[in-house]
Amino acid sequence: MEHVPVMKEEIASFIKQEGIFIDATTGTGGHSFFLLDEFPKLRAICIDKDRDSLEQARKKLARFGERARLIHLDYRNLPEIEFQWKKVIAILFDMGLSSYQLSSDKGFSHMRDSPLDMRFNNEEGKPAYVFLREISYSQLVRIFRDYADLKRAEELARNIKARNIRSTGDLVDTVREVYGMKKKELLSRIFQAVRIGVNRELEGIEEMISSLAEIVSEGTRLIFVTYHSGEDRIVKNSLRDMERNGKLRILTRKVIRPGRKEILQNPRARSAKMRVAEK
Ligand SMILES: C[S@@+](CC[C@H](N)C(=O)[O-])C[C@H]1O[C@@H](n2cnc3c(N)ncnc32)[C@H](O)[C@@H]1O
Repeated sequence: MEHVPVMKEEIASFIKQEGIFIDATTGTGGHSFFLLDEFPKLRAICIDKDRDSLEQARKKLARFGERARLIHLDYRNLPEIEFQWKKVIAILFDMGLSSYQLSSDKGFSHMRDSPLDMRFNNEEGKPAYVFLREISYSQLVRIFRDYADLKRAEELARNIKARNIRSTGDLVDTVREVYGMKKKELLSRIFQAVRIGVNRELEGIEEMISSLAEIVSEGTRLIFVTYHSGEDRIVKNSLRDMERNGKLRILTRKVIRPGRKEILQNPRARSAKMRVAEK
């Protein structure tokens, strides 16, 4: 499934037209393609943790030649990269999962029967079915409460621990044992919570923002698009703390949300929140 980049016009309005732009979550290259096409003097460093997505991006961005350089990397390791940081005008974090990944056979979707893996990078960590086996009951309850805001999290965690879950279908059946034939929205939230746990998505973001604020030059912009309240809270609080310490200046006093038209055309955009800060 083709991924539609979210709030691309709003993002472009924060990008100066010349210099190096880092796309920290390139996915299949939607935002990079749009920005390189809009701004002919822009160059992009395109990062993603998922090699398959980067391969798709490589094909999509081929027409820009050397203006797009692709790197397989976890963005939390970005501050450790030796780089021409002075030339970087903006870094974009469009967090979470792409439609391309959702329609893959990596176990991200409750609508496709496949092994329950859910790793962005299958060269590290453990697949979700091992994660669910090894995690303690109480940690699993916490994941469902914190990341899915779930009622009866204890019952779901108990049933998961009692079963040998291997596939998306096994997890869907277990959810239905507890909640009955519920709406897709509940399944999506539960799958998202497991994915956040498997990839440790909320860990290390604060530290990364703080290190990047030290490295980049005056005027560089950090742009965040989040899709989960836990992610947004971390970004919001980190930017506020950095501003108090005089390290960054917040440019979006109010969070930016997609317009009605965009949400109608791309329902995936409905939970998006954008925050921007400048050094
Ligand atoms: C919402 S998608 C980005 C879509 C992209 N902006 C586009 O328009 O095509 C999020 C991407 O971030 C990647 N990602 C998630 N966590 C990451 C991390 N810690 N480091 C690098 N990439 C990550 C995922 O693999 C996924 O491809």
